[in-house]
Amino acid sequence: MSPTATIASDVKDLALADVGKRRIEWAAQSMPVLAIIRKQFIKTQPLKDIRVAACLHVTSETANLMICLRDGGANIALCGSNPLSTQDDVAASLVRDYGISTFAIKGESNDVYYSHINAALDHKPQITMDDGADVVTALHTKRKEMLKDVIGGTEETTTGVIRLRAMAKEGVLGYPIVAVNDALTKHLFDNRYGTGQSTLDGIIRATNMLLAGLTVVVAGYGWCGRGVAMRARGMGSNVIVTEIDPTKAIEAIMDGFRVMTMHDAASIGDIFVTVTGNKNVIARDHFEKLKSGAILSNSGHFNVEIDLEALGSMSSSRRESRAFVEEYSMRDGRKIYVLGEGRLINLAAAEGHPASVMDMSFANQALSSEYMVKNHSKLQNKVYSVPEELDKQVAKLKLESMNVHIDRLTPEQEEYLAGWSEGT
Ligand SMILES: NC(=O)c1ccc[n+]([C@@H]2O[C@H](COP(=O)([O-])OP(=O)(O)OC[C@H]3O[C@@H](n4cnc5c(N)ncnc54)[C@H](O)[C@@H]3O)[C@@H](O)[C@H]2O)c1
Repeated sequence: MSPTATIASDVKDLALADVGKRRIEWAAQSMPVLAIIRKQFIKTQPLKDIRVAACLHVTSETANLMICLRDGGANIALCGSNPLSTQDDVAASLVRDYGISTFAIKGESNDVYYSHINAALDHKPQITMDDGADVVTALHTKRKEMLKDVIGGTEETTTGVIRLRAMAKEGVLGYPIVAVNDALTKHLFDNRYGTGQSTLDGIIRATNMLLAGLTVVVAGYGWCGRGVAMRARGMGSNVIVTEIDPTKAIEAIMDGFRVMTMHDAASIGDIFVTVTGNKNVIARDHFEKLKSGAILSNSGHFNVEIDLEALGSMSSSRRESRAFVEEYSMRDGRKIYVLGEGRLINLAAAEGHPASVMDMSFANQALSSEYMVKNHSKLQNKVYSVPEELDKQVAKLKLESMNVHIDRLTPEQEEYLAGWSEGT
């Protein structure tokens, strides 16, 4: 019997699975750390018979994480963490070739998106794995009766961690969660280099515009913003940064970028990218000042960074100019363009982060889920950082896979660093 006969799923078309399988295998070649963890998992079965509900962008990299968890004994239901980020061929292959229950279709409506989260929850998870805390939110609001079965969870992104910390602070978080985003081997690389490259990839694929000579406005100079600004400069753009944090603003200035308010940047920018995790960062006042032809995009987690409702109310008509490019005709005759419905542009119009960077993020996910299964009884209903030894283990394995060797402390140096008696 084919695995699909017994597997609950909702994907676009199982006939796409051949292409998806090749993409999954292609990504696997750039994920050596996850491959090592998978080999260990096959032997040690740390997730044996553990039911996992994973709500992640359904990409070829995520598929490799799912295969690793499955081979570690987990019984998985996967749904998408964004209506536009699913790779339909990968979803099909996960069901047909790997026997993993998957609920995700690119372009699904909000209703279908939430029905897919519900379908993953019908799996009665003991471990949740989130990217943006949508599963946690659904569990704590609509499916509270299921909380008693959950032993722990993991969270992939900045916005999810912020939400979860707010829940823990209010005392409403129902189980412990590891903040994978906090691992150095996650945010230093995934958020900065992954988002930096893939966001520009998304903008370029959607628009086919030459970035050289254009003014790119990056809102937010956190881990993602630093990456986007750095890579946009590398493509020859004049980059302006907007911030609300004075320290980050100084950092951007010293990194060589112009810093100003969005109000001032609005009339100068050609392309805007929001990466703040905040809402209405580009709003009505700014729309009034934009040049005709200005392009607005977002690479932050939710589609709330650009106030699309206000933009809609200020425009007289809308039409699709190209795939992932929507033209808003303003009443004064200007044209404003919004990419990927204001959703994560790197996943909507491109393929998300390259596998080599997701290798580290998902190695943290795999090791954190093992950690949670082993340690949940000792943990409280709080948000925990990835244990430092796991983070270091991921870094070491990644270096080994690159065949890069680094120095070790000599005993004399260790003693020197540990003591305070030798001042000179
Ligand atoms: N596109 C992707 O694939 C991807 C990958 C990782 C993270 N993310 C998401 O990107 C967002 C940013 O993540 P991060 O890790 O860079 O977070 P971060 O906390 O490091 O940075 C966010 C920055 O935005 C600034 N900010 C907040 N409100 C602002 C405003 N109104 N105007 C200007 N700046 C403002 C903050 O001061 C901060 O410096 C989050 O939503 C995160 O979940 C997306």
